[in-house]
Amino acid sequence: MKQKNIQTKIEIHTFDELPAEYRQLIETAKEQTQKSYSPYSHYKVGSAVLLENGVIVGGNNQENAAYPSGLCAERVAAFYAGSQYPETAILAIAVAAFHNGDFTYLPVHPCGACLQVLLENEFRGGKDIKLILYGKKEVQIVNSIKECLPLYFNFQEKNT
Ligand code: THU
Repeated sequence: MKQKNIQTKIEIHTFDELPAEYRQLIETAKEQTQKSYSPYSHYKVGSAVLLENGVIVGGNNQENAAYPSGLCAERVAAFYAGSQYPETAILAIAVAAFHNGDFTYLPVHPCGACLQVLLENEFRGGKDIKLILYGKKEVQIVNSIKECLPLYFNFQEKNT
């Protein structure tokens, strides 16, 4: 038997020790939570994507009465960035969540579908995308999306 071990490095930071660029991205993600359309879950998620040209694109979760038709905050921002800046790489994405009148104590991690979409953006842009996850207690940072979803789906032939 062979064994392969996969490791993911998660940096734990306080908000105050982060560089200004990341603090600004988090502030945008926090602001975005307040524009969330989430009448069903009342769980307001905000995201902010930093592009290579310095532009910041915000997003938030958009729900629908037909539940699966809604979309997470991360994909709203990633798809908007991909549609409006198709030639520009994404360098980082910050995520924050607001629930029961406050930001979450611990960071919220993107769902698997969002990771799969962000990973494609990582390949598309040719640059690692930093994942910056805000919680009141701590900010978690992962240096690439691939580290979060090592067993991702792709179209590669498995038998060659
Ligand atoms: N949601 C996000 O927007 N991003 C995540 O990373 C996890 C979940 C949304 C989907 C739904 O609108 C609400 O949060 C509750 O699941």
